[in-house]
Amino acid sequence: MWGGRFSERPDAIMEEINVSIDVDRHLYAQDIAASKAHAAMLAAQGIITASDAKNIGKGLDTILSEIGKGAFDFKRALEDIHMNVESRLAELIGPAAGRLHTARSRNDQVATDFRLYVRDTIDEIDAALAQFQEALVARATEHAATVMPGFTHLQTAQPVTFGHHLLAYVEMAARDRGRFSDARKRLNESPLGAAALAGTSFPIDRAATATALGFERPMANSLDAVSDRDFVLETLSAAAITAVHLSRFAEELVVWTSPLVGLVRLSDKFTTGSSIMPQKRNPDAAELVRAKTGRVIGALTALLIVMKGLPLAYQKDMQEDKEGAMEAFVALSLAIRAMTGMVLDLVPDEARMKAAAGDGYATATDLADWLVRTLKMPFREAHHVTGRIVALAAKDGVALHELPLAAMQAVEPKITADALRALSVESSVKSRTSFGGTAPKNVLAQARAWTKRLEKQRK
Ligand code: ARG
Repeated sequence: MWGGRFSERPDAIMEEINVSIDVDRHLYAQDIAASKAHAAMLAAQGIITASDAKNIGKGLDTILSEIGKGAFDFKRALEDIHMNVESRLAELIGPAAGRLHTARSRNDQVATDFRLYVRDTIDEIDAALAQFQEALVARATEHAATVMPGFTHLQTAQPVTFGHHLLAYVEMAARDRGRFSDARKRLNESPLGAAALAGTSFPIDRAATATALGFERPMANSLDAVSDRDFVLETLSAAAITAVHLSRFAEELVVWTSPLVGLVRLSDKFTTGSSIMPQKRNPDAAELVRAKTGRVIGALTALLIVMKGLPLAYQKDMQEDKEGAMEAFVALSLAIRAMTGMVLDLVPDEARMKAAAGDGYATATDLADWLVRTLKMPFREAHHVTGRIVALAAKDGVALHELPLAAMQAVEPKITADALRALSVESSVKSRTSFGGTAPKNVLAQARAWTKRLEKQRK
């Protein structure tokens, strides 16, 4: 394709380091769509004839179906997807194929293809995240009043509801979707027609190809169009944050399903056994979700490093933008689907959750709040009084609500039996009715609101 001034074949190692077809073959659909838009525009502008454009379009359709069927012979010697397609086009329609590359370059071509690819990926990830949210909301509705221990420092802190915990991830996923959608808006401009770097002398219509490919507008600067990859970086950043959210949830599943903790059980569908220890039920899927985060963060880091020293405009370094990003998107999409499956599969051990929620004097704050509310005690003093009562209970090895009233009154004489009622885990969560709090009725209201919102988005 570019051999005019060359007389020797590339060295085998040159070919090996230069070739990108193994990676950019995944861009075939986008590459063909962009070529079809370009050819139609060239004809509309009188740059090529209508009959050449028609043959080019037909030939490209044939190639699309050949590749789709697995009947296309990708040639490494042809380096990349662009030249593989063009060379096959020449076989199919003859010399007219050579007119397709008028007023464009592989530089604007690859930037266009990859923008289209990343845009498709964003749409897929968004749909997967919506399903993840739907699964979470369904389980949150079911468990709006299921009491579990809430943790800080992984120490039992205060009772919360399981539904509330699940809805926390719905909120995170919503922000993740917002980040992908922001990235999509910014990437949706067309580089096509920027040519190698400087634009072209042909009377092309960049707005027409932009519209044909679903872009909002052509990119305004040809140097920028061929030389930035911020759209990949931005999407990978959104992906990395999403992966971190999933990883934290996966880590919780690993902890919760440990027999030492036993708050949640995953079925045979999402666990594996051990080849040596018959009792084992390993949360492999959750562990792998946690681990795949590394690939996503790695891809973001790697591409930031590739880009950081590159002068304008196109540099071959940028060919390294695709492999890691594609792998990261595949890993993220799988991780989202695996988490969705586990959310639907998991069964909380409600009795154990409730017992654990009351362990470790988790309702101590409720006693302090009672002292403040009923006895009008300053919170700091109430905290101190409660601390002394907790110490008493700990010395006797009993839960807070099991401590005799007289023992509490020895610390604070004005405490009444009413205080004891505030100490159950149910009344603790029921009382947390502040906006965003864990009370079952808040959780139900939030879950209903999310159900409606997600339904509306589906339409
Ligand atoms: N395979 C190249 C890439 O992915 C396509 C652009 C090649 N351009 C060039 N001037 N060699 O970046």
